[in-house]
Amino acid sequence: MKLTLIVAADKNFGIGINGDMLFYISDDLNRFKELTTNNIIIMGRGTFEALPNSKELPERINIILSSKNIETSTGIVVDSIGNLQRKLQEINPKNEKEEFLIGGGNLIKNLWSSIDRALITIVDKAYTNVDTYIPNIFEDKDFEIVKISKERYDEKNRFYYKYYEFKRIKDVSL
Ligand SMILES: NC(=O)c1ccc[n+]([C@@H]2O[C@H](COP(=O)([O-])OP(=O)(O)OC[C@H]3O[C@@H](n4cnc5c(N)ncnc54)[C@H](OP(=O)(O)O)[C@@H]3O)[C@@H](O)[C@H]2O)c1
Repeated sequence: MKLTLIVAADKNFGIGINGDMLFYISDDLNRFKELTTNNIIIMGRGTFEALPNSKELPERINIILSSKNIETSTGIVVDSIGNLQRKLQEINPKNEKEEFLIGGGNLIKNLWSSIDRALITIVDKAYTNVDTYIPNIFEDKDFEIVKISKERYDEKNRFYYKYYEFKRIKDVSL
């Protein structure tokens, strides 16, 4: 399993509060849509429930990790990382689709060792009201930065942000 993490974080790697995102950057959302469309997105139940109307995102294969019997029309529910791995092998045997891990904090921590590439939008702001974090990837020596965008300014949120791309140096363990 070689997953691509895609998330947006504040400067302390905070990603959520009370089941919601900390901020929405319209450019970033468009980029997320472009990158993930026609591919596979993998999410925890918390993130699935935070999607508009708890509905799968269209034009993508949605896989939800949960031990519960959750309602989904087109999504695929798996109850363990082992079953996620089996499902991905079954539906994407030749790795023609990119397998994106889209959140949230809990699932990202559980799948950290399977992340091969990470696309993280980092905003130049520290939020004080945060309850969900991801690990600080700058402190993880197994990853290197392969690309950083120029600094961008978001008018609506009034902050600067950059798109970072990281790659795992050693092979993923799963
Ligand atoms: N900024 C961003 O880019 C971004 C992206 C996504 C989400 N978020 C934010 O992150 C927050 C949600 O994150 P979260 O940590 O609360 O929840 P989460 O990671 O989305 O979901 C956690 C749930 O996933 C299931 N799960 C996790 N690991 C599992 C495993 N190994 N096997 C089976 N099931 C597993 C469990 O569901 P069950 O309890 O049903 O078993 C667990 O309770 C929200 O605030 C959301 O807005 C932010």
